[in-house]
Amino acid sequence: MKVISSIQEWQAIRRSISPQKSIGFVPTMGNLHQGHASLLNKARNENDFCVLSVFINPTQFNDKNDFEKYPKTFEEDVKLASDCHVDFIFLPQANDIYHDNYLYQICESNISKLLEGKQRPGHFDGVLTVVMKLFNLVKPHRAYFGEKDYQQLLLIKGMVEAFFLNIDIVACPTVRLSSGLALSSRNNRLNEEQIDKSKLISQLLTSGLQHHEIRRQLETQGFEVEYVQEWQKRLFAAVKIGDVRLIDNVKIPDLISDIADKDL
Ligand code: PAF
Repeated sequence: MKVISSIQEWQAIRRSISPQKSIGFVPTMGNLHQGHASLLNKARNENDFCVLSVFINPTQFNDKNDFEKYPKTFEEDVKLASDCHVDFIFLPQANDIYHDNYLYQICESNISKLLEGKQRPGHFDGVLTVVMKLFNLVKPHRAYFGEKDYQQLLLIKGMVEAFFLNIDIVACPTVRLSSGLALSSRNNRLNEEQIDKSKLISQLLTSGLQHHEIRRQLETQGFEVEYVQEWQKRLFAAVKIGDVRLIDNVKIPDLISDIADKDL
């Protein structure tokens, strides 16, 4: 496994890879967990080369505090990547990625304004811009994204279609603890009591209860609820526990979704 932080060095390696060989790419912000491992294992199994990028992208954080607190766990990340048989870890520097001072951006004007986009203005512009830059550098055949960030996944699929990028976007199921809590880098910032409480999020999302009742129960348990909302036959929630923001979403079985539509 090779770790590369220079864009020029990576580009030279990329040019040396035969066009016959396929590249599977997993872009991340580090602080890797078993959810990332599932993406890396799939990328490893389906391609000749597996590339992981680790870049804490400043432009997608609308909260400076959140950016500064984002955990940096490089040694553990390298260990997980090596266990998943990654070939290359690409670690670009912010000055190199944003050599244009973020003057050029990718903006989507529909889906990116809902749910997460509404709560975090500018977030998806930052995500799409960095993913486009990384796609142009890595030039993967397939790229792997988790359904936990379902809105991000749809936006990246849409961007690939809109700009005729020849990349397969592979959706991977959310990995959960046995309690149901979706794995997230932010879980590391929760204490034991908060981890235990947070299992309620997925339990309520899959309960079939009406949205206002889910919200009420979460609030009773001390969560600050940003939204519980149905969209695209999935139920989404964003909550805060202490100063940690968590999101999750589940597919709504057809029957429940029809009932929920009528309730509205
Ligand atoms: O999902 C993430 O970790 C980030 O949004 C991504 C796709 C790596 C872009 O910075």
